[in-house]
Amino acid sequence: MPRLLFIPGSLRAASSSRAVVRALIGRLGCGANCDTADIGLLPHYNADVQDDPAVAAFISAIAQSDGVVFVTPEYNYSVPGVLKNAIDWASRPAFASVFVDKPCFVVTTSGGALGGVRAQAHLKYVLNGMLARVFPCKEVVVPMANASVTDGVFENDAVLAFAEENLAGFLASLDG
Ligand SMILES: Cc1cc2nc3c(=O)[nH]c(=O)nc-3n(C[C@H](O)[C@H](O)[C@H](O)COP(=O)(O)O)c2cc1C
Repeated sequence: MPRLLFIPGSLRAASSSRAVVRALIGRLGCGANCDTADIGLLPHYNADVQDDPAVAAFISAIAQSDGVVFVTPEYNYSVPGVLKNAIDWASRPAFASVFVDKPCFVVTTSGGALGGVRAQAHLKYVLNGMLARVFPCKEVVVPMANASVTDGVFENDAVLAFAEENLAGFLASLDG
């Protein structure tokens, strides 16, 4: 069974991105072994820091996964700094990092109508730069994300069904 590592790009407890992660994991059911990374545990990137246990655990979780699923909001037309920080940690050594050839799937969220399309383009650009294997599919976006969350549960079935359909294609493409 493939192992998926979900990486939410928002830290807040009431995050719609985190609610989407929970909903997608629920929908996948027994179709995959799913873990969720907590990128809030990571320190600010500093090349002088070589032995941080949270960094080591994060990189190890990526290495052990068959595929990485990013679910991130758009911040100021790009990805949140906390997500970029996490990616930067896992991007070294350059062009020989844990991300090389790593299958990656991208979902973006936003409170507005565009669903984070600009962050989606930025994230895919960054992943391509690290030689990751970005799954080619229609853009999976979650517009008006906060409006679809009630008591921590993401409830937009149409959005989830579209995400699940594309995620199924991603799963089918994995080696694990
Ligand atoms: C610092 C900041 C910048 C934001 N910039 C954008 C933006 O450029 N485009 C957009 O559609 N939404 C923007 N938003 C709205 C977020 O995408 C929205 O609040 C989203 O639901 C946050 O994700 P979360 O619910 O997972 O925490 C921004 C929010 C914050 C806090």
